[in-house]
Amino acid sequence: MCGIIGINSNEEFYIKDAVKRLKRLEYRGYDSFGYYDGTILFNQVGHIKIPNTDDKSSRIILHTRWATHGGVTKFNAHPHQSTKKKVTIAHNGIIKNYEELREKLIKKGHEFTSETDSETTAHYFEEKLKTKTIKEACIDFLNDIEGEFALVIMVEGNENIYALRRDSPLVLGVGTNTNYVASDIYAFSDITNMAIFFENNEFAEIGTDHFQFYDKKGQKIQKEVQTFKWEQEESTLQNYDHFMMKEIMEEPIVVKRLLFSLKTEQKINFEKFIDLMRKAKKVTFVAAGTSYHASLLGVYYLHKCGIEAQTIIASEFEHFIGVDKDTLVIPISQSGETMDVIEALKYATKHGAKIASIVNVPYSTIQRISEISLNIFAGQEICVAATKSFVNQVTLMLAIAKEFGYNVNLENLPQRIEEVFTMKETIKEIAKTLFKQKHLYVLGRGLSYPVAREIALKIKEISYIHAEGMMGGELKHGTIALIEKGTPVIGLLNENDYDMRSNLKEVAARGANVISISNKLKGDIMISTSNDGKFGILASIVGQLLTYYLARELKLPIDKPRNLAKSVTVK
Ligand code: G6P
Repeated sequence: MCGIIGINSNEEFYIKDAVKRLKRLEYRGYDSFGYYDGTILFNQVGHIKIPNTDDKSSRIILHTRWATHGGVTKFNAHPHQSTKKKVTIAHNGIIKNYEELREKLIKKGHEFTSETDSETTAHYFEEKLKTKTIKEACIDFLNDIEGEFALVIMVEGNENIYALRRDSPLVLGVGTNTNYVASDIYAFSDITNMAIFFENNEFAEIGTDHFQFYDKKGQKIQKEVQTFKWEQEESTLQNYDHFMMKEIMEEPIVVKRLLFSLKTEQKINFEKFIDLMRKAKKVTFVAAGTSYHASLLGVYYLHKCGIEAQTIIASEFEHFIGVDKDTLVIPISQSGETMDVIEALKYATKHGAKIASIVNVPYSTIQRISEISLNIFAGQEICVAATKSFVNQVTLMLAIAKEFGYNVNLENLPQRIEEVFTMKETIKEIAKTLFKQKHLYVLGRGLSYPVAREIALKIKEISYIHAEGMMGGELKHGTIALIEKGTPVIGLLNENDYDMRSNLKEVAARGANVISISNKLKGDIMISTSNDGKFGILASIVGQLLTYYLARELKLPIDKPRNLAKSVTVK
């Protein structure tokens, strides 16, 4: 959440080009954005707009905000400046002890102009710099501040940019005559593939052609430059109106790419991963949001082949006992940066567990803190709602389950996905009958239950229709009270699932408008597979398309739904 960038170059660049770079991080938050180029402090509420100016600069810090402390207002938009305008900052994270610090600084004459926790850091540095060097101020900051931060700082009269990290992601991009510092590699991955990742409690002085990292005591540290490789599709919309549709349409390609990688570049890692699973006494997945649904499917698949596994929602992880040295913890995360997952992993590591992760973004924090990591190779996903990354997470779950005896042919999965795409018009027509509804229910049993939850989540986040994904069997224990004439109920009706058929009859008897997604059995949407694992993936794609068309009917901002962010780096 929140994206920050600093650029320091010995050549001038257009400010609008720097803002285009910030746009690449917009999925991290889009409540407001701003920049400071050493002279002009600009900020504005709303999505990032590329400024219509030919102004140039050689040094800039930029920020795109997902509001935590303080409303979505111009005053709360970053960058923030200290009272005498000596220090300007852009921050991602939460300064937990900001209220005490703020009171002390106000007593010393600082005037605050925002409600944010972040502004405190600008005043903190200005106060420190009255008596100390910037390096000394950074060391004090690391000692005095409680909370999380990726922070970039510009100080009047100093030609460098300073950057500090604790728990929020931060990476240095090493270019030619230009250095970049940003929340993630997307900010500069079109320019350079050389990066250095900040670890916790490190800071760096970043010049145009030099940089120096320091630890929290101020000792110089030499860090290795990593050369990253990032498989990705064209990051423009091409002929699509929205990234969501473009990314859904990429699903057959990314599935192929993942399956190919498991036989080639990821083969050894895949074998090691399976080996760790075999040796572990306990296998516990941990994830959030859509990735949690992928992990839940993984648990169902593994149980189908006699392997006990469980999954825990990341933010609740530490309330569950039983993580020890015999446990293999498997985090699943698209971004590899979700704070709740990282916190769960810290807890797991403290209790001796091994970490084997599944991520999409390479070199992300979760990948770097894992003993072993598999990449799902979905490529960059720009739409806030996960689509192709979910499909690849689940494909990988099936590939893992296959190693334990689950019977599934994955080779024809891309073709089956293409077949779902041929039903787009039918799905669009269904959306036209549903978009005015306020509530809908999605029912699944067994392997289709996590899919029901995923479809409901997608509908909620993109079309803002209240949707509940439920176990078919659980419906009669309360929720059925909400079914009345015309209530839409989407049923995931697997071949031979007689219980599910009964559940749908039960709601139909109470007037529900049943829309069935089925394999073999006659349904509103017919998917051709007899495998219940593949049925789930394909049904989830029907759900993605349905969501897309619902949101289109409702004229909603499909790629950037309100209040959400793609990378959730606060607790
Ligand atoms: C956010 C995103 C979701 C995502 C979840 C977990 O809520 O909007 O799409 O599923 O975070 O993120 P992760 O990157 O860990 O998969």
